[in-house]
Amino acid sequence: MGEPPATEPVRPDRPDQPDRPDRPDQLKRQDRPEREEREPAGDAVIVTRGLTKRYRGGQLAVDGLDLTVPAGSVFGFLGPNGSGKTTTIRMLMGLIEPTSGTAHVLGRPMPHAARAVLPRVGALIEGPALYGFLSGRDNLLRYDAADPAADPRTRRVRVAAALDRVGLTAAAGKKAKAYSLGMKQRLGLAAALLRPRRLLVLDEPTNGLDPQGMREIRTLVRELASDGTTVFLSSHLLDEIEQVCTHAAVMARGRLIRQGAVADLAAGTRGRLVVTTPDPQEAARVLKERGVGDVVVAEDRVTGEPPDGEIADLNRALVAEGVRVRGFGRERPSLEDAFVALTGEGFDVAG
Ligand SMILES: Nc1ncnc2c1ncn2[C@@H]1O[C@H](COP(=O)(O)OP(=O)(O)OP(=O)(O)O)[C@@H](O)[C@H]1O
Ligand SMILES: [Mg+2]
Repeated sequence: MGEPPATEPVRPDRPDQPDRPDRPDQLKRQDRPEREEREPAGDAVIVTRGLTKRYRGGQLAVDGLDLTVPAGSVFGFLGPNGSGKTTTIRMLMGLIEPTSGTAHVLGRPMPHAARAVLPRVGALIEGPALYGFLSGRDNLLRYDAADPAADPRTRRVRVAAALDRVGLTAAAGKKAKAYSLGMKQRLGLAAALLRPRRLLVLDEPTNGLDPQGMREIRTLVRELASDGTTVFLSSHLLDEIEQVCTHAAVMARGRLIRQGAVADLAAGTRGRLVVTTPDPQEAARVLKERGVGDVVVAEDRVTGEPPDGEIADLNRALVAEGVRVRGFGRERPSLEDAFVALTGEGFDVAG
């Protein structure tokens, strides 16, 4: 039973991928061999400028995106459902044409240079395409055989290693149609790992996985990154990005809100003031008098939004009024706080 896959995995020999040669002037600029070999560590592996996609129905899915993904980063592409993540990834992988703007992947323009670029990129896009009647292992063997750059002599060994890496060795002989969503996701990831890659592009890699599976994928992503692979992964899970990514871009309604190091993104947001005290009611009164807003008392914790200025003065005021202070400081702002501060909205689907 060969159910046609909902989405195609990216493979270098996609029959529907027009093999448009680069224009001669681009060949001169882009195809110089020394450019291939150079790529110093500081280079960006993905650069988009004004990247825009308007679908035929008129939907503006991606709107003037300027994205810069540094080499060696684990880059989180964060946004609520429908914010344009998959559309961007499909443009980066040359699966769809942008309406306007440019995208360079590994220094080469997409989709023009897809044939040269894609063998060095492992991709998992919105659910892997699988042949249900084949086992997981046979799916990978077949997938690898469709890659003209893959060495057939090492195929079995590489397939076994990839299955092992995603924890599918025991289920490798089972037909893919009997795989759970999470197992299919793992198999798609294994396909992206069949060969060493410069860049991995993973669209919602933990989608459908249980918490243990999510942890395993996060560990795998960290391992791959420590081997020097740049990982670009999309997610709508803020804590996932926070746990695994060095850099992130925040999308909302097709537009880039912010990008940068994860620590810097969160640092732009001020966390709430937190006071721990055996005198919470007194503390709340003093803090309110000093202009702290949204004061919340929960047992021995009093939190609120401090006014501008030196927060140490609030501590002095508490102590001066006889409030015994056990702990005083700002909460570490999370990426979720940053997202809400940046977008002025919650993490909900735009209508
Ligand atoms: N083939 C298509 N034709 C028309 N509109 C589309 C198409 N694919 C996506 N869209 C629209 O473009 C917008 C962005 O969709 P996209 O799939 O890129 O979002 P996403 O960020 O990947 O969302 P999710 O988190 O749900 O995967 C949405 O409004 C969606 O309805
Ligand atoms: Mg998506």
